[in-house]
Amino acid sequence: MQATDNNNSDLLDLEREVYKGEMPWSSFSFKTELQKTKNSLYVVVYQASTLVGFIGARFLTREAHITNIAVSPVFQGRGIGTFLLNLMIQKARDNKCECISLEVRIDNDRAKKLYSDLGFEATFIRKNYYQDDVDAVNMVCWLMPHKLKERS
Ligand SMILES: CC(C)(COP(=O)(O)OP(=O)(O)OC[C@H]1O[C@@H](n2cnc3c(N)ncnc32)[C@H](O)[C@@H]1OP(=O)(O)O)[C@@H](O)C(=O)NCCC(=O)NCCS
Repeated sequence: MQATDNNNSDLLDLEREVYKGEMPWSSFSFKTELQKTKNSLYVVVYQASTLVGFIGARFLTREAHITNIAVSPVFQGRGIGTFLLNLMIQKARDNKCECISLEVRIDNDRAKKLYSDLGFEATFIRKNYYQDDVDAVNMVCWLMPHKLKERS
């Protein structure tokens, strides 16, 4: 998506709602991310004029990386997160990426279960990754058949 000031403001509002005011990214870094147009994709879901969910990813030569995903608390549990992740996994396949990765808070059991249900595997821990010093788990979903074979 081509980020506009309206999109930015909706996305920032949703981040604040989801994280109860404590955004994992600063407002500045979030806006900077949204201005990127090269190798970067944000997909948004609106109901009428209300933003209810979004996902962002960067596409490198061999790897896609999900930078952010959030669904409005009112709309969680209706399959929107699954839909957005499957869409980004398909985009990564279309771009011939070998894998798609992400970081998730070590204590975010619900998100970790969702990712593992979709084929992501925990790889390593990033210590004190978040602003409140909580660790992150790096998770990877392998997309190329030969990579899957090598690992079995
Ligand atoms: C993680 C998140 C994006 C998932 O989005 P979502 O739209 O709720 O996801 P889905 O509706 O596809 O549901 C995914 C799973 O969560 C489960 N779930 C949904 N609502 C739930 C709830 N209130 N409590 C426990 N589990 C719940 C669903 O049952 C589903 O599991 P299942 O497939 O075994 O049934 C969303 O919860 C969110 O924005 N969380 C806050 C921000 C966050 O943690 N982002 C991830 C950063 S890495």
